[in-house]
Amino acid sequence: MKKFYQLEWLGIYFKDVEAFTTLLPSKSFYTKFYEKLFEKYNGFDELDEAWLVYKNNVAKRINSQLKNKTNVLSIGSGIGVVENTLTKLNPNLRITAIEPSENASKWVKDNPKISIVDGYFPKCIERVRNFDFVYANNIDYVFNEHEYDDFLKSVVDYGISEFLIISTANYNTWVSLKIFIKEILGFMGIINKPDNGQFWGYLRSKQEHKEALYRAGFTDVQITKLGTDTIFIKGKI
Ligand SMILES: C[S@@+](CC[C@H](N)C(=O)[O-])C[C@H]1O[C@@H](n2cnc3c(N)ncnc32)[C@H](O)[C@@H]1O
Repeated sequence: MKKFYQLEWLGIYFKDVEAFTTLLPSKSFYTKFYEKLFEKYNGFDELDEAWLVYKNNVAKRINSQLKNKTNVLSIGSGIGVVENTLTKLNPNLRITAIEPSENASKWVKDNPKISIVDGYFPKCIERVRNFDFVYANNIDYVFNEHEYDDFLKSVVDYGISEFLIISTANYNTWVSLKIFIKEILGFMGIINKPDNGQFWGYLRSKQEHKEALYRAGFTDVQITKLGTDTIFIKGKI
């Protein structure tokens, strides 16, 4: 596992949200981040085109895995861009979208196919509901090792036997080499040090993801790729 640092996301510079800290962004950081995002943009269409194309491809890949499943849970849905696209690609879907930052879902509030639940999984939906398909898109990076274990265990304990994690926070030999070179150049003062910016989360290797899912009780874990940076980790029991 490797820590990573980031300066901005979606054109919002983190230094304009809060002063950089060595702690992971809190719920209030994300809430302030989303406030700034909604000050700057009025809707999905105003966001970076390449990012929207990428999210569209993520939604298409999720949709291709749904088959006849219609009762979907998304954990950590953010602004709901993927969920919104999914309901357009597949009008039969009913998506429950959980997100800790209450204001984040502003642009999907009026989508009748998405029910937004504010809070943290599993506390915010204690009554066990039978979802046919459950995924967490791009939230794995927020968890340290024991939090990731606890989170995955809570998914298993909830009764979810098939779980999809979509992750961009992964590293392989090539990424490790790039980090190492940046560390040396940063140490020599040639470029900014890699820990310049807000501590944003953790990168994991595919093996670390797999081991975490096995520790939680999944018995079959398959990883596929989308583009160069995204992996789809499917855990089954
Ligand atoms: C990078 S965003 C991804 C949002 C969305 N799934 C997407 O792909 O566009 C990460 C989201 O995780 C949420 N988050 C942070 N801690 C979380 C936790 N413990 N459980 C679930 N979501 C969390 C944040 O509020 C943020 O909206």
